[in-house]
Amino acid sequence: MSNRQLTFKIFRHNSRDPDSVPFLQEFSLEETERMTLFTALTVIREEMDPTVQFDFVCRSAICGSCGMLVNGRPRLACRTRTEELPREITLLPMPFFKLIGDLSVDTGTWFREMGERVESWIHTARPFEPLAEEERMANEDALAVYELDRCIECGLCVAACGAAQMNPAYVGPVGLMRVARFVADPRDQRPEAEIFDVIGTEDGIFGCIGFLACDDYCPKDLPFATQLAFLRRKMALTGLRGSRDGVAAD
Ligand code: SF4
Ligand code: FES
Repeated sequence: MSNRQLTFKIFRHNSRDPDSVPFLQEFSLEETERMTLFTALTVIREEMDPTVQFDFVCRSAICGSCGMLVNGRPRLACRTRTEELPREITLLPMPFFKLIGDLSVDTGTWFREMGERVESWIHTARPFEPLAEEERMANEDALAVYELDRCIECGLCVAACGAAQMNPAYVGPVGLMRVARFVADPRDQRPEAEIFDVIGTEDGIFGCIGFLACDDYCPKDLPFATQLAFLRRKMALTGLRGSRDGVAAD
């Protein structure tokens, strides 16, 4: 492999300093074999500028903390190899989330609030029996739940989503997938009208404008296209049934 000289243009801004003016700082770095953006940023921080802020924990696409815009596209930096990119690489923080500094954003607060909004827990009237034998679940149900439960809360789908950029109250593609995960779970006894109250609005499933960028950028390949269509149909029918039966859907 020929060792390219890479140029990184990195967004710099200290959100806690009112006098800080955002700018792009350039760093030049020799590419090494199998170099990821994590490696490159670590070299930059350790050898060139210790003040560059970015987040990493697992370095293996599990913790979801290293999302950033790489040449304009949301990606996990730990699993993005420099060899996939041109010689000039621009790194920006993900939009939509609160900026902490440079490439670091606060996804945690948004995800906690989203989880509370969509009531991201099993709703059941059955009392918890700690000593009861664990119940079996049909394989197809378990697989459906598992497929939707693989989200690592990286926020890439939200950063890619045009609807989220236009409407900060939108629950986001990941919020809708979270609802789909509980709809698929046979232990959740929530009636459809209750789910409609949570996502049957312009800030929920009807806020999705159908660009499906979420589907393009999710590092875990969650099935956005099928699940969003399923929820939209289900909520439209629930709304129609509610107005026909005289039950206020709003
Ligand atoms: S749904 Fe995919 S892109 Fe969105 S937060 Fe979860 S893992 Fe990340
Ligand atoms: S460092 Fe954990 S997902 Fe990238």
